[in-house]
Amino acid sequence: MAKEKEFHWRRLHSLLGLIPVGLFLTFHLLVNFQATKGVEAFNDAAGLVEKMPFLLIVEWVVIYIPLMFHAFYGVYIAFTAKPNLNRFGTLRNWFFVLQRFTGIFLVIFIAWHIWETRLQKALHGTEVNFDMMAEILSNPAMVVFYILGVISATFHLSNGIWSFLVSWGITQSKQSQKVATWVTMIFFVLLSVVGVMAILAFV
Ligand code: HEM
Repeated sequence: MAKEKEFHWRRLHSLLGLIPVGLFLTFHLLVNFQATKGVEAFNDAAGLVEKMPFLLIVEWVVIYIPLMFHAFYGVYIAFTAKPNLNRFGTLRNWFFVLQRFTGIFLVIFIAWHIWETRLQKALHGTEVNFDMMAEILSNPAMVVFYILGVISATFHLSNGIWSFLVSWGITQSKQSQKVATWVTMIFFVLLSVVGVMAILAFV
């Protein structure tokens, strides 16, 4: 019974990592990418999101609650799962370890990012716009921190898609898992370029 319960929690954790958290991450990086087209393009794109009806409810239902569940249960998994590095020194084992490291780092990065942006708006009414990000990223240490945060998130999502496909029985053969490694790693590179170019556009 306990094992069955854990199985369902793991399934929920896996599903929420992709939908809605993974979808949101991709959307968020694409909106940020508008910064490469100039101040106005970014403010217009971010402004469209801000004008969404019932924004606060949508944010809690689509982002904060699923992300908090995925993150907190993820920390539990990260500290209880056993990697097999000694027995199998394969790329996939390293990715398994990296999935956990990036997850833990993302807890710190996302908490800091929400504090600097959304919570400043909620507490002091500060506008979340191009100037706010440019101000944050005027500190070179922050540029490094944000680049590490974005690359951790894009790796975590891309490798997460690979393990999602295995967990849900979609890629069962060795061959299909190999193809999935290539496809998800190409996705990782493309989404990282989008994310990093967006950061550099504010610098
Ligand atoms: C940008 C935010 C995040 C996104 C887009 C995301 C996405 C994903 C996806 C798609 C998976 C694959 C699910 C599966 O294995 O079937 C996954 C797995 C995982 N995530 Fe996240 N995640 C995020 C944040 C976090 C955080 C903050 C943690 C905290 C430690 C975390 C910990 C984990 C762990 C441990 C796994 C592996 C689960 C397993 O192997 O069973 N994730 N994530």
